[in-house]
Amino acid sequence: MILRKPLGLVFTSDELALEHNEIHLIGKEDTTIVCTLQLRPINLHTVQMRQVAVDESYQSKGIGRELVEYCEQVALDGKYNEIILHARETAIEFYLKLGYELYGEPFTEVGIPHRNMRKFLHT
Ligand SMILES: CC(C)(COP(=O)(O)OP(=O)(O)OC[C@H]1O[C@@H](n2cnc3c(N)ncnc32)[C@H](O)[C@@H]1OP(=O)(O)O)[C@@H](O)C(=O)NCCC(=O)NCCS
Repeated sequence: MILRKPLGLVFTSDELALEHNEIHLIGKEDTTIVCTLQLRPINLHTVQMRQVAVDESYQSKGIGRELVEYCEQVALDGKYNEIILHARETAIEFYLKLGYELYGEPFTEVGIPHRNMRKFLHT
């Protein structure tokens, strides 16, 4: 997969067990999965956006934007009003363009630099 395989990482069974409570979104062209995103409920108001990825050959066509905007509507439909995420440094600009703001200090996750980002959703 785009996110962990290049880093030499796999999902642990504990991580996979947590995913049962998450909302999984995928985008398809015919039978090909071209993008993915997961929403993990944190509390009654907040979901964490995770595992955002667009297949390399489909990047830079607006699919990532459409996917994130769609997930915001899904979050609102679930009565959540805040999305938080751990942004890889290389993707920060993408999220800034979609209205997400940085907060907190930089940190390392899966061996690479990340920042906390968030967006408050309005109906
Ligand atoms: C980051 C990612 C999801 C973006 O998806 P995408 O479909 O390529 O993005 P879009 O085409 O919808 O881009 C929307 C806007 O963000 C910009 N953008 C997208 N990725 C960017 C990046 N890495 N750096 C800077 N700007 C970026 C685009 O230029 C576009 O700008 P515009 O509206 O001014 O034209 C995709 O590149 C990806 O899967 N990357 C690898 C995995 C990854 O890093 N995921 C994020 C983990 S936190």
